[in-house]
Amino acid sequence: MDTWKISGGESLFGSVRIPSAKNSVLPLMAASLLCSGTVTLTDVPNLSDVMASRRILQSLGCKVRWKGRTLSITPGQQIGSTVPEEYMRAMRSSVFYLAPLLVRTGKALIYTPGGCRLGARPIDLHLKGLADMGAEIRQSGNALEVTAPTGLHGAQISLRFPSVGATETLLMAAVCARGETILRGVAIEPEVIDLIRFLQSAGACITGAGSRTLHIMGRDFLSGTQFRPCPDRITAATVLCAVAGCGGEALLTNTCNDDLLPIVRVLRRAGCSIAACGPHSLAISSCGRVGGVENLFTDVHPAFPTDAAPLVGAAMLRAQGETAITDTIFENRFSCAEGFSALGASVSVSGRTLYVHGVPALRAARICAPDLRGGAALVIAALQAEGESYLTGIDHIARGYEDLTSLLGKLGARIVSTHWMDE
Ligand code: UD1
Repeated sequence: MDTWKISGGESLFGSVRIPSAKNSVLPLMAASLLCSGTVTLTDVPNLSDVMASRRILQSLGCKVRWKGRTLSITPGQQIGSTVPEEYMRAMRSSVFYLAPLLVRTGKALIYTPGGCRLGARPIDLHLKGLADMGAEIRQSGNALEVTAPTGLHGAQISLRFPSVGATETLLMAAVCARGETILRGVAIEPEVIDLIRFLQSAGACITGAGSRTLHIMGRDFLSGTQFRPCPDRITAATVLCAVAGCGGEALLTNTCNDDLLPIVRVLRRAGCSIAACGPHSLAISSCGRVGGVENLFTDVHPAFPTDAAPLVGAAMLRAQGETAITDTIFENRFSCAEGFSALGASVSVSGRTLYVHGVPALRAARICAPDLRGGAALVIAALQAEGESYLTGIDHIARGYEDLTSLLGKLGARIVSTHWMDE
């Protein structure tokens, strides 16, 4: 079983460069299908979800080339309409292929991603919006067939919740639909803004970026383009929380500081010192045993992001005070609490709230990553525990972190891959 041995108990010092955002790269790869020429994405991280997307694009008939950190995608003249079930299972984000396939081929056959460890992940908002634009939807078991033989038309769509994924699906559908679409109540997460900028660079006509209402005038096809995705704010949050919890000093480069403000504010409240060094780098210092952050709630951007909730929870395990973090977005965000407890933390979960009563010290343990961000949170926790912890379930972490061991290793964290045999 692939395992990381994490030797904890040391403060972290050094400098790291933050890579591009997974949650930007994945929809951009799907949106490449809308372009008639080659799309070149630069500074793309090597993540297992990016590899899964690459396999989906190849299975649909696209030419995909990796050179260094540059990914070139050339959609073929003839592309398929079906994303094979094995690929849909590998990556929830394959729902992003729904709209581009519908636009390109008049039909999309996908297998619904279903629930995940975070809780139910419905796609009703994606489907309702596509239906408003003229798509017909048939579902049989987990197979979903969406057709629009005469193409999609513009529509006025109001989202009951500003879903990131639904906003991205409907944007991709609207940029090539007939006529004007008005999308109201959209998500304004930085990765949504990145998709808008990408589509605009390929010739899409979109106004209102950054507001809750988007006006989109459809075009027949988009052109090829070159684009560099935005920095990963959740990877930056991971580094900030690791330093906050372990103590130390770090410089983060290639950050978008405005996007990090909700996280920075919380860590400052806990007693960390964080200063911008220009618009694209941040310096943090922490004494290790920070203060707790009572009553933190996640919400949609620009509030505190759900993905960072377990990370901040991990940073507060040795805090001198109480912390309560409630995730308003997903039902089951804190599966990592079991691992926190194994490491000697005093935590409990009630409903959607994680309660942390800071303890003076954590102890090494054998723990298992329950999901992507929960896994990263356990790494942060284990780095604070004296001794050698063993973490399994690291496949979850590889979905969203290029190489977390060497990223944190740049700050002196000692994490090595090993092979742990069950006794
Ligand atoms: C994206 C991110 C994920 C992040 C989340 C919230 C990607 C690949 N993933 O996920 O890391 O945690 O945004 O910032 O970008 N919902 C519905 N119906 C829908 C769609 C969503 O009820 O059709 C609900 C979901 O169940 C959830 C909430 O809306 O409770 C948020 O989901 P959404 O914003 O769509 O998140 P994702 O796009 O799935």
